[in-house]
Amino acid sequence: MSITSPVELDGMQAVSEAVGLTLKQMRDYARPGMTTLELDEYGGELLRQYGARPAPKLAYDFPGNTCISLNHQIAHGIPTDKAILQEGDLVNIDVSAELDGFWGDNGGSFVLGNDLHGHNALVEASKHILHQAIQQIRDSVRIAHIGRFIESEARKMGYTVIRNLVGHGVGRSLHEPPGSIPCFYDRFLRTRFRENSVVAVETFISTGARFAQETADGWTLATDDGSFVAQHEHTILVTDGLPRILTTANGI
Ligand code: CO
Ligand code: CO
Repeated sequence: MSITSPVELDGMQAVSEAVGLTLKQMRDYARPGMTTLELDEYGGELLRQYGARPAPKLAYDFPGNTCISLNHQIAHGIPTDKAILQEGDLVNIDVSAELDGFWGDNGGSFVLGNDLHGHNALVEASKHILHQAIQQIRDSVRIAHIGRFIESEARKMGYTVIRNLVGHGVGRSLHEPPGSIPCFYDRFLRTRFRENSVVAVETFISTGARFAQETADGWTLATDDGSFVAQHEHTILVTDGLPRILTTANGI
């Protein structure tokens, strides 16, 4: 959406804070031995306390309050009592919600407890690249430029990027124009960031895979070659200078 009034800015700030705090609190609550369903129910309760409604359910009838993806799963993982968190797991939680007609979105990968499998470098790279990319977003910058930046930074560190998962506009719905803010250089993408618009920028940094594959449950996207992917996502307000990150409460 494009912000045209203080009321709209307040609305976006409120929902962004709700999803940011929920993401941070879920990350702090996660423990080895807990199921992803328990973690999701905790997240759902937090969103309710903040007066927000889980977006995946509302917008797509997703079977969960949040998306929780483990290890080779990349995104849209379904919370279940079959998935038990283990020490050293690469965990991704994505929290999006609606509050008073405004929608916010954020997500992040982290290593649960001790980094037994050496995922931390990937997680830190993704976080770092997201922040560097956000700092380059301002009015009139080509969206393709940001994709090129993310891809080239990833490559310098020995990583690839996922090409079929992208950032997006957000605000009056979960996914709205601009429909695609990719992590790779798409030279055919002519669109530009515009002042006052709200967008969700996300990284998908990979140890090998270039595409997320659908899995049998019809929701979860995963790698099929043993590689791992870290994602970090902020909802931001584009200005004529540095963007304003609306989801800072997530601590990413
Ligand atoms: Co998200
Ligand atoms: Co998103």
